[in-house]
Amino acid sequence: MDDRKRKVFVKSYGCQMNVYDATRMTDVLAGEGYEETTAMESADLIVLNTCHIREHASEKVFSELGKIRLLKQERVASGLDTKIAVAGCVAQAEGAEILRRQSAVDLVVGPQNYHRLPELLRRTDNGASVIDTEFPLEDKFDHLAHPTADKIRARGLNAFVTVQEGCDKFCTFCVVPYTRGAEVSRPVRQIVEEVERLAASGVREVSLLGQNVNAYHGEGPDGAVWSLARLATRIAQIPGVARIRYTTSHPNDMTDDLLQAHRDLPQFMPFLHLPVQSGSDRILAQMNRKHSVADYLRQIERIRAARPDMALSSDFIVGFPGETDAEFEDTLRLIEEVKFASAYFFKYSARPGTPASTMGDHVPEEVKVERLARLKALVDGQRDAFNAAMLGQTVDVLFEKPGRRPGQIGGKTPWLHAVHVDGPKELIGQIASARIIEVGVNSLYGRLNDSHTEASH
Ligand code: SAH
Ligand code: SF4
Ligand code: F3S
Repeated sequence: MDDRKRKVFVKSYGCQMNVYDATRMTDVLAGEGYEETTAMESADLIVLNTCHIREHASEKVFSELGKIRLLKQERVASGLDTKIAVAGCVAQAEGAEILRRQSAVDLVVGPQNYHRLPELLRRTDNGASVIDTEFPLEDKFDHLAHPTADKIRARGLNAFVTVQEGCDKFCTFCVVPYTRGAEVSRPVRQIVEEVERLAASGVREVSLLGQNVNAYHGEGPDGAVWSLARLATRIAQIPGVARIRYTTSHPNDMTDDLLQAHRDLPQFMPFLHLPVQSGSDRILAQMNRKHSVADYLRQIERIRAARPDMALSSDFIVGFPGETDAEFEDTLRLIEEVKFASAYFFKYSARPGTPASTMGDHVPEEVKVERLARLKALVDGQRDAFNAAMLGQTVDVLFEKPGRRPGQIGGKTPWLHAVHVDGPKELIGQIASARIIEVGVNSLYGRLNDSHTEASH
């Protein structure tokens, strides 16, 4: 082999946990001499980090693989070795089926096995196809390489840190309990060390990730089981950490201590993604969500009592099997009652192996499209009202990067609005307070307050 540096291209689909996993994969591969590239054509190793959540997400992978096969053929014809790896949730769910559908694939690796990438790639060196979708006994996080300080800096001020993986909830529509396995929480010490390393290289905002992050129950340094609130309180003590967020939460796991932490912990940002999926009790029961509409509304009330300025977002599924017009209207009513700052909407997609996929009584595509548009219009209006209410307010902004125009810098409010101000580059990485003087469609415009010293977070 020639001695030039090998290059790896990683493309991630799906949730933020995949984005985090992509960084961990490139960190492991750096130890094998691979440097990251954003140009797929120049990569010696192409990794598709896939998502299985909806049919569309899953099928995209196979059409992408078709194109990559041609690229591989061209490169191999020019004497350039090229490997294709499929990682993520499609890898976990489909395993050998991927090789059957696309023989150009060299490696299929599930999310629990990324620490084995170097060894697995070596096993493909003689042209063999390799599959590893086992749930290993060892903890992958104990074996994954850490990023260098330069890499952390290049990735910016915000970092994702997975603290919990998998899900035990088994909503009837969802593949996650099958692709990511049972709920596992990382030990507190491991997470704290990771955040310390990130913060020492300039990270100011940490997003704690998990499929069910508010069910976090990791081993504490004292041997006791720690909750998410306790973990966040510990992370808040790490010098440099100015903001802490977490996602995604289940409504049934909003514990008292978590709400108390929202009251007490200045670093805890007042923005919560709390998926409800539907506003109909019958559909929620069919989904096995284990909460009613009234339960969800009660949670919202508790959350707002703890943090009156809490902004909320949610996920909704339209066209779950058997969803009637009246049941859909119930979802509109719930949205009107809660008032969201943003939301994600999905057309129900039957996933092989999930209980809902055999429920029958499928809602026609055109009905799903129409319901989706109505939900979106309603929440768009709520989002616009939420943004408009910022006008004239003075808010803390964490400045993250140069702005769109010269002399401008851009950052985020605690509620995730993008803000631009005229201000010095030196403020990037700092929190400063600004008065919002203009509300645009996608961002706010503000004026810095006189003293640009770091606010009290
Ligand atoms: N653990 C999180 C996220 C799960 S996946 C949670 O519990 O909310 C993200 C979103 O995808 C879900 O909230 C749900 O709205 C949507 N989703 C999951 N499975 C789906 C399916 N089969 N069809 C359509 N949307 C789906
Ligand atoms: Fe899927 Fe439900 Fe678990 Fe969320 S809580 S990951 S929707 S099974
Ligand atoms: Fe998709 Fe897997 Fe995330 S199915 S949403 S990548 S956990």
